[in-house]
Amino acid sequence: MQLILGIDTSCDDTGVGVVALHPDGRAEVRANRIWSQTVHARYGGVMPELASREHVERIDAVMEDALSEAGIEVADLGAVAATSGPGLVGALLVGLMYGKGLSQGLDVPFYAAHHLEGHIFAAASEAQTAEFQLTPPYLALVVSGGHTHLFDVVAEGTYQLIGATRDDAAGEAFDKIARLAGLGYPGGPAIAEAAKLGNPKGVAFREPMLGQSGYDFSFSGLKTAALLAHRAGVSGPDLAASFQAVAVKHLLKVTLRAAANLGRETVVVSGGVAANSALRGAFGASELRAVFPGKGLNTDNGAMIALAAAAAIRSGRAPSGLDDGATAYAPLANV
Ligand code: KG4
Ligand code: ZN
Repeated sequence: MQLILGIDTSCDDTGVGVVALHPDGRAEVRANRIWSQTVHARYGGVMPELASREHVERIDAVMEDALSEAGIEVADLGAVAATSGPGLVGALLVGLMYGKGLSQGLDVPFYAAHHLEGHIFAAASEAQTAEFQLTPPYLALVVSGGHTHLFDVVAEGTYQLIGATRDDAAGEAFDKIARLAGLGYPGGPAIAEAAKLGNPKGVAFREPMLGQSGYDFSFSGLKTAALLAHRAGVSGPDLAASFQAVAVKHLLKVTLRAAANLGRETVVVSGGVAANSALRGAFGASELRAVFPGKGLNTDNGAMIALAAAAAIRSGRAPSGLDDGATAYAPLANV
């Protein structure tokens, strides 16, 4: 068995996780610790320089917590992985340098990981059962505050981006609509909570991009429509329920079209928005086999980076060089 440490400092969460890679190929999450930065709240958005500084201050403590949650010593680690992109460069550098230094000190291999591959593999650990293993080809829908990407995972490590948002990310729309309706922050959970008390038919939102034959997404029109509805006096719960319903419908419809055209039967849904229970319900009730990350693995975390590294190790991918840098923009294609 090999113990892998995973680090993610791509944005405003300091995440460190530990995964055990078993000889039979099973990857098991042993620890998942996240420090969510709160300094940004008063600015209404993430301040990159503050994020970097906070990662520097917190990463030691988060790692200690992760090791003790896993019940191991640092010397037990057999590999170290850290996100190298995409993300805020200054923030990424903290985790990347920390991971490289640790791997050098321990004399174990280092794996630079792609943040989106991490999101996808966050669901892979859940998918391993005696009856079902997540093996390509399958679709992967990453829906977070920064991403709305639909990938066709054609082979292990080969990702084809077949659709993406044309404007706002799905999570960003949840956050912005929650803010305009005064429902609180972060917007995703606030909308989900308010929606329980609202009427999903309260606002007649028009489903985005109805005419397309491709697999793109759009959320900015819904944001404008929500603003107008709010000004017209629609209640917070009705607005939340109606927006959540149309957002889920849009995400599902595009994914189903892609699955039908490409002949895919399985979809991994991950990223912060994948925590949404209406979305889980709708995908779960569809004809696709929908696979979601386990508890605490939807939003940014370090365990998903260790899971991506476990997959890399399993498929015989070579460790990364120490000169691999941090990249703000990093398309996921072949890794
Ligand atoms: O993956 P993540 O932690 O960060 C990014 O990489 O962006 O995702 C955060 C996003 C936020 O926009 C948040 O509002 C959204 O995920 N989110 C949700 C829920 N929980 C978090 N959106 C909808 N429903 C939820 N329950
Ligand atoms: Zn993310």
